[in-house]
Amino acid sequence: MSGEAVAIAHPNVALSKYWGKREGPGNFPAVPSLSVTLAGLQTRTRVRWGAPAHRVVLGGRELEPAESARARALLDYVRTSSGAFGHAEVESRNDFPTSSGLASSASGFAALALAAVRAAGLDWDASRVSDLARSASASAARSVFGGYVELPVGAQSARPLAPASQLPLVVLVCVTTEAPKAVGSTDGMRATMERSPYARAWLEEAPKIHAGLREALLAGDFARVGELAERSALAMHASAIAAGVTYWNGATIAALAAVRALRDAGTPAYATIDAGPHVKVLVRPADAARVRDTMKSVAGVSRVLEAHPGEGARLEGKP
Ligand code: PMV
Repeated sequence: MSGEAVAIAHPNVALSKYWGKREGPGNFPAVPSLSVTLAGLQTRTRVRWGAPAHRVVLGGRELEPAESARARALLDYVRTSSGAFGHAEVESRNDFPTSSGLASSASGFAALALAAVRAAGLDWDASRVSDLARSASASAARSVFGGYVELPVGAQSARPLAPASQLPLVVLVCVTTEAPKAVGSTDGMRATMERSPYARAWLEEAPKIHAGLREALLAGDFARVGELAERSALAMHASAIAAGVTYWNGATIAALAAVRALRDAGTPAYATIDAGPHVKVLVRPADAARVRDTMKSVAGVSRVLEAHPGEGARLEGKP
């Protein structure tokens, strides 16, 4: 046992969204979700066991205990399961804005789960690593796998649904702020479920959108996947906004309008938005360069990152 491991993981963007937790203990989603893991953005995390206390450093800054509570709970679980001696020292870095709705928790907890497990000498399979990642952040369960990934309702772990080659696409991440988001996804979901008059409508609609999207993906129907992905995001945000949880800013709305204008002019481009103000545009590879230029000129969009379907979490230097 080396006691140390370095893992790489990518964020994912949910095409059909997870929003809302099942009642009761554990961190189980109330709706199914389907995502694509995104090469082009990444988290790199080193875990070393044997420290006197858990220490988590993210982007060069040591996190306060309150900020790293979920990471510590994950580490404690691995420690108990492995009988690892001591605590863990964690050093993690994202090459994209953290905690602003760019799914840093997904890649962060997927990389942490894999590095912590391997550094502790545990030979868990990907499903078990996904289950561990889910306990911290349900979307992280999906980043353990590459390509198109499904997290069924109430499931312990995500599962790969189709390889990246199933549907070639480009995700253009239109960054509308570098600031961290004001409301975390757990609090946003709780508020939606407690206060939104549309929470029930969302819980009823989400599985239907998911089923249609799954079918369209397996049929390789880009336009249908795009339409349903946009519908899922708008339904999720409508239910959240009705509870006073607004992740959007002015540039979010301008970017949505630009995507609609592209479509009206004949380019198949579709928008999705997570728990933050950035708009992610789904396009065919052949349209990516042109749509990227259009999105760069939208007022309030500071930059446009390009991502495409990629691999799941892995140890550095190992396939
Ligand atoms: O896993 P969390 O707690 O970061 O929640 C993710 C929620 C969304 O990103 C908005 C949707 C999703 O399915 O990833």
